[in-house]
Amino acid sequence: MLQNALQFSHALLKEILTDHDHAVDATMGNGNDTLFLAKAVKPNGKVYAFDIQEQALQKTKQRLIEQELTEQTKLIFDGHEHLENYLTKDETIKAAIFNLGYLPKSDKTVITLPNTTKQALDTLLRHLSYKGRIVIVSYYGHAGGKEELNMIEKYCQNLPQESYNVLQYQFMNQKNQPPILFCIEKK
Ligand SMILES: C[S@@+](CC[C@H](N)C(=O)[O-])C[C@H]1O[C@@H](n2cnc3c(N)ncnc32)[C@H](O)[C@@H]1O
Repeated sequence: MLQNALQFSHALLKEILTDHDHAVDATMGNGNDTLFLAKAVKPNGKVYAFDIQEQALQKTKQRLIEQELTEQTKLIFDGHEHLENYLTKDETIKAAIFNLGYLPKSDKTVITLPNTTKQALDTLLRHLSYKGRIVIVSYYGHAGGKEELNMIEKYCQNLPQESYNVLQYQFMNQKNQPPILFCIEKK
């Protein structure tokens, strides 16, 4: 069976992550991706996870404690557009993930935005290691979602093919705007 966007996003990152790697969860939410990354990089690695909602940090912290994954994770109560402030100058990032949109069962007006998402992507590209991957899962059914999707499409299309492979993955016959996945891989 073909993998859905969530399954495929993890498969793409699992393929490249090893212990000691540094990774970024740009949109922590309930922590599903943070937990996945923390397991993949093991205690010797590092995961930076960002969110601008306190409840996301509380929920994720609790789940990390339960699964003994706190050692390798740094939960950051700040926007991913400020990522540069948390990395050292020469630090390399092997994998990053964005789940764009709003936190399910939460305030639907707190959404990721084109400008700040783009700033985070620019920073990640500067720090991405050779063969590193950035996965972006775009949910765009909500107000403002289409604008962000347009930005992502343009951003990805304009990346030079000499330096990056860029993949788009979507189900074309599903109703209700299923998410679209993008993966940027540094050559
Ligand atoms: C679709 S949810 C993420 C779901 C998450 N991956 C999970 O496992 O539950 C998007 C999240 O991005 C957060 N967010 C919105 N703007 C942000 C920003 N500038 N920086 C970091 N997180 C942001 C929202 O608060 C929300 O929790």
